[in-house]
Amino acid sequence: MDRRRVFWIALATALLLGLMATGSVLAEGPPRQAGDNGACLTCHGRPGLVYEFPSGEVWALYVDEEVFRSSVHGQQGLACTACHPTVGSYPHPPLTVNSLRLYQLEQYQTCVRCHEDEYQRSLDSIHAQEIAAGNWNAAICTDCHGSHDITPPDQPRTRIPRTCSQCHAAIYDEYRGSVHGRALTDESNPDVPTCIDCHGVHNQEDPRTTRFRLNSPRLCATCHADKALMSKYNISTNVFATYVADFHGTTVTLFERESPDLPTNKPVCYDCHGVHNMKSPDDPESMVYRENLLRTCQKCHPDATENFPASWLSHYEPDIERYPIVYFVDLFYKILIPSVLGFMGVYVAVDGCSRLMRRARGRKKRRETG
Ligand code: HEC
Ligand code: HEC
Ligand code: HEC
Ligand code: HEC
Ligand code: HEC
Ligand code: HEC
Ligand code: HEC
Ligand code: HEC
Ligand code: HEC
Repeated sequence: MDRRRVFWIALATALLLGLMATGSVLAEGPPRQAGDNGACLTCHGRPGLVYEFPSGEVWALYVDEEVFRSSVHGQQGLACTACHPTVGSYPHPPLTVNSLRLYQLEQYQTCVRCHEDEYQRSLDSIHAQEIAAGNWNAAICTDCHGSHDITPPDQPRTRIPRTCSQCHAAIYDEYRGSVHGRALTDESNPDVPTCIDCHGVHNQEDPRTTRFRLNSPRLCATCHADKALMSKYNISTNVFATYVADFHGTTVTLFERESPDLPTNKPVCYDCHGVHNMKSPDDPESMVYRENLLRTCQKCHPDATENFPASWLSHYEPDIERYPIVYFVDLFYKILIPSVLGFMGVYVAVDGCSRLMRRARGRKKRRETG
């Protein structure tokens, strides 16, 4: 290759690279290095900077530099303009909203630029549906995570239910006193469910649908049918197997498979144990504590009397010690029915054979005589 061609190629490449560099700067607006945040903070780093909406609502525009720097985004060296791409030097583009909540509802959309997955998942959530229906109190990204002070949302794990408690305080209080919530808050137990194990994180659905209800026993079973997990707490894993086997659970299981949207009046786990307030059966506050059990059954069996709960085996398979009569009746039938059926089978077979033999003999005789 001659020297002149090399020179022109090099020059063209340099020009192209230069153009691309300016192009990208223009396309991305202000640069993204954290160093440039200083310019914004000369005004926003000063406490007391406020804006007043026409309604009189006062909006603090102060951003604490230290708090931002120790947030997950500050640690990544994110520029202010990574989230505020339309805001450059002052004066800023005019505001398009007239209240803080409207501003928040507009601004959280900025998260999608880097967290596409979480954003997409949240689109069908019950919170998003509520917002779309005009209930602006429902949760958006920044209600749960914050905006300039975002830190890992699951550390410590007790933070998760506290995040929800901002708006679901009554449910949090119940949960806090439940066997699950107490283990989480008092013992930092990592095995018990928080709100999001039952409701999901970014895609919470409406828990009062038939579908959710019918699927709920399986939700409990993810832990309560896990032998290794439950043996740590000496809790029986039979609860799921026996539930599916009994008349209540069999029907619910069938419903779930055949007609997932058809309501059923059969109990699921939380009809007997409570929803957010479930307790150990030995706890006098438990809905299945001996003295409270009848009242729990009466929700659906209004005529039930004192010994009604006793007629039910609860989560036990019949055994000699606990339910001797049921055990023996069960055993009796287990032996009797196969024996009777077996005997009938043998009888029918023998009978059939002898008939065939008699008929064959008859035909032979007729041929001989005829
Ligand atoms: C000269 C002071 C000054 C500087 C520098 C400045 N701002 Fe502002 N900023 C304000 C004032 C005053 C408001 C109140 C609303 C208005 O007047 O536009 C505001 C409002 C805002 C708002 C909320 C309203 C909106 O328009 O979204 C954001 C976000 C914001 N600034 C971000 C930034 C960022 C990012 C930078 C740096 C690139 C920056 N500001 C630089 C003074 C400043
Ligand atoms: C991770 C994204 C993100 C980054 C990075 C970010 N902001 Fe914000 N900022 C937001 C969101 C979202 C809001 C909307 C208000 C809210 O939800 O609290 C907001 C609101 C604001 C406001 C309005 C006052 C307020 O707090 O409501 C100002 C001013 C502001 N930001 C300035 C800055 C400055 C200065 C920086 C850089 C030091 C910065 N922001 C970095 C997401 C971000
Ligand atoms: C310019 C890109 C960018 C934008 C915009 C952005 N983030 Fe992030 N975010 C990151 C990066 C990078 C990290 C750190 C790496 C990681 O954990 O994914 C992070 C981490 C997080 C984490 C912590 C994740 C963890 O596992 O601990 C949360 C929560 C989060 N961001 C929420 C938000 C929210 C809410 C918004 C909108 C207000 C937002 N982010 C906007 C880039 C961004
Ligand atoms: C109702 C509260 C809530 C809302 C709304 C919410 N988050 Fe989260 N987010 C959480 C919780 C709680 C976690 C911790 C999840 C865990 O520990 O498994 C989390 C985790 C995250 C993480 C860490 C990675 C992950 O997926 O576990 C990111 C990133 C994130 N959220 C971004 C967002 C964005 C972006 C939005 C808005 C589109 C959003 N979140 C809306 C509560 C919420
Ligand atoms: C900013 C407030 C806010 C936060 C934080 C919040 N929620 Fe909600 N949530 C709402 C609102 C508002 C509704 C709509 C129904 C209502 O008004 O109670 C709702 C509805 C729900 C529903 C549907 C049931 C119903 O009553 O319609 C579930 C399930 C739910 N939230 C779970 C959660 C979980 C789990 C968290 C924490 C990870 C959480 N929420 C955090 C405000 C919030
Ligand atoms: C063990 C699973 C489980 C846990 C943990 C759990 N929930 Fe629920 N939650 C349910 C079920 C099941 C329902 C449906 C109850 C019904 O049909 O009435 C429900 C219903 C709800 C509802 C709507 C109905 C109502 O009672 O207002 C909200 C809101 C809610 N939960 C929020 C939360 C929050 C917040 C937490 C954490 C503090 C939490 N849940 C923890 C299983 C759970
Ligand atoms: C994420 C796992 C997990 C899920 C999901 C879960 N549990 Fe639990 N549950 C536990 C653990 C672990 C314990 C033991 C806590 C302890 O004793 O400290 C427990 C304890 C209990 C107890 C008390 C048992 C006793 O003898 O003390 C009851 C009752 C209970 N759960 C019912 C339910 C029901 C009903 C559901 C579904 C709505 C459910 N759980 C969902 C993990 C789970
Ligand atoms: C018809 C009411 C009813 C239904 C439905 C029900 N339970 Fe129970 N459950 C009880 C009663 C009563 C007890 C306590 C009596 C006993 O010791 O058997 C109990 C005890 C338990 C225990 C404690 C067992 C132990 O070893 O300490 C767990 C865990 C439990 N149930 C979970 C579940 C789960 C999970 C479901 C759904 C798959 C469920 N229950 C459905 C009534 C019910
Ligand atoms: C949420 C409602 C509900 C609750 C709570 C409930 N049951 Fe039932 N139960 C039913 C329904 C509905 C049937 C009919 C089942 C079928 O036909 O498939 C039934 C059937 C029964 C049967 C079979 C005999 C009969 O009457 O048909 C017994 C025994 C029984 N339940 C005991 C109990 C006991 C004991 C409790 C309390 C620990 C209880 N149930 C709690 C709804 C409930």
